[in-house]
Amino acid sequence: MKVTVHRKAHFNAAHRLYRKDWSFEKNDEVFGLCNNPNFHGHNYELIASVTGDIDPETGYVIDVKILKDIIKSEIEDAFDHKNLNVEVPEFKDLNPTAENIAVVIYNKIKAKLDKKFHLEITLYETPRNFVTYSGE
Ligand code: NI
Repeated sequence: MKVTVHRKAHFNAAHRLYRKDWSFEKNDEVFGLCNNPNFHGHNYELIASVTGDIDPETGYVIDVKILKDIIKSEIEDAFDHKNLNVEVPEFKDLNPTAENIAVVIYNKIKAKLDKKFHLEITLYETPRNFVTYSGE
């Protein structure tokens, strides 16, 4: 019997979408406003979803406190109020699109979770635009 536990979190961060090896014109054409050289911010909403069996002793799949602490140390402390391009090493050479941010978040949380769990990341860049990633 598999049950999924979801934990919501939030961070504000700035980014710029561009490729160093493309001209400004090409970046502008592909990334539009997100190529603003002065960066811009988003209010990111994160949902980390952990699926596993219910522990018959505790009745938990995972103690939400454990998940909360992993998200705090790995994601909120690392990303909140940061310029992703400049201050977060994972994006030094990786375009900080919602897709790539979701993959980075997945990898960071997965590394701290017990191997027995299945993890899915849902990341909202705006209330209407969001991506999901579960390691495939
Ligand atoms: Ni943007």
